[in-house]
Amino acid sequence: MQKTISILSLGALALAGTSLFAQGKGDAAKGKAVFEQCSVCHNADSAEVKMGPGLKGLYKRKLTDGKAATDATVGAKIDAGGGGMPAYKDLLSAAEKANVIAYLKTL
Ligand code: HEC
Repeated sequence: MQKTISILSLGALALAGTSLFAQGKGDAAKGKAVFEQCSVCHNADSAEVKMGPGLKGLYKRKLTDGKAATDATVGAKIDAGGGGMPAYKDLLSAAEKANVIAYLKTL
């Protein structure tokens, strides 16, 4: 019984892991459409600050808080917002977040 439970919870953990930002399996083309609401504040074609930092080359540089740009750190910023950025935790679905992250990687 104990063993069954731990196998089940391992399975649940694995599932949770894959659904979290869909492990970089987002669709960049769909993410571009999601990004329209971000483009009010973010340039996609330069690193120049609009309201927020330009996001061109985001994955090739560090975030402004000094953290490496990864799906986890970028996803956390999108979820939490802050510093003038809205929190998108409840505004975007997991798929939309994965898609917009996939799009950000192409910049
Ligand atoms: C109302 C303006 C606004 C909107 C809309 C907005 N952001 Fe932001 N964003 C900001 C500001 C301002 C910052 C800088 C905040 C800080 O320094 O803490 C920021 C920071 C970021 C960062 C970190 C950049 C870095 O270099 O550290 C990412 C990534 C990001 N936003 C992505 C997005 C995405 C994706 C969307 C759309 C889903 C979005 N933002 C929508 C204003 C906005």
